[in-house]
Amino acid sequence: MTDNARILFEQNEVIQMYFNDPEWSRFDLKKEAVLKRRYEFFAGRVCAALAYKKLTQKKLLELQINEDRSPKWPHGIVGSISHNEKYVVAELSSKAKGLGIDLATLGSVEKNLQESICNKDDVTQINGISSEHFLTYIFSFKESLFKAVYPLVNEFFDFQSASVTQVDFAQKTFQISLNEKISSLLSKKMNHSEKTFTFAGDFSILDQKTLLSRVIIP
Ligand SMILES: CC(C)(COP(=O)(O)OP(=O)(O)OC[C@H]1O[C@@H](n2cnc3c(N)ncnc32)[C@H](O)[C@@H]1OP(=O)(O)O)[C@@H](O)C(=O)NCCC(=O)NCCS
Repeated sequence: MTDNARILFEQNEVIQMYFNDPEWSRFDLKKEAVLKRRYEFFAGRVCAALAYKKLTQKKLLELQINEDRSPKWPHGIVGSISHNEKYVVAELSSKAKGLGIDLATLGSVEKNLQESICNKDDVTQINGISSEHFLTYIFSFKESLFKAVYPLVNEFFDFQSASVTQVDFAQKTFQISLNEKISSLLSKKMNHSEKTFTFAGDFSILDQKTLLSRVIIP
């Protein structure tokens, strides 16, 4: 049995294959919701259910929404869902303590957000990528970290709370560190004494337009 399972689709493929199939209607939102939101929510749940089946050979009967909007994964499973205008992905793990995944359209993060996303310890450039895509990378790496860590610490933290300290474009890997405040919350949860946590992440590029990044908390 593998420890991780990822399912990635184009959203419209999932909608065409499953949206009108009563077998999957348990993952639809109420009809009053905006159709675009119904589609992305549904597609994320379908990917999660297919990943769950791949990982455990069992059917995912429900995937409720926690108050903080994160999915309520079955006992013993961590996972993450992401969607952008084209793709949808879910990845689950039965071994990791946390897992975050993020899809971001390259160039979608505007330059005027630089100050709120970056801090003095972030890398200032990434060899191999154009400067207009730089912010999308930092943003997406931090969002995947957030999704992996938030369920463990149960406290919101902003983009200043983590720094991307290394990116290797050839290997498609990065390193990301949490600041002392969030590290200390995580230490308690994980029974560790680290002052600052640094995690390894990885990424891939789909269709030259979408960045898919991931952080696993081992
Ligand atoms: C929660 C958040 C990361 C979601 O990212 P997004 O780019 O808006 O959207 P994505 O499509 O990538 O992900 C949405 C999915 O994330 C999941 N999600 C929502 N809240 C979550 C949380 N608190 N923890 C983990 N996962 C969460 C859900 O599965 C959601 O999809 P669904 O509602 O269809 O189930 C983002 O909205 C947010 O609040 N960011 C600010 C916090 C942050 O990133 N800080 C940086 C720290 S360094």
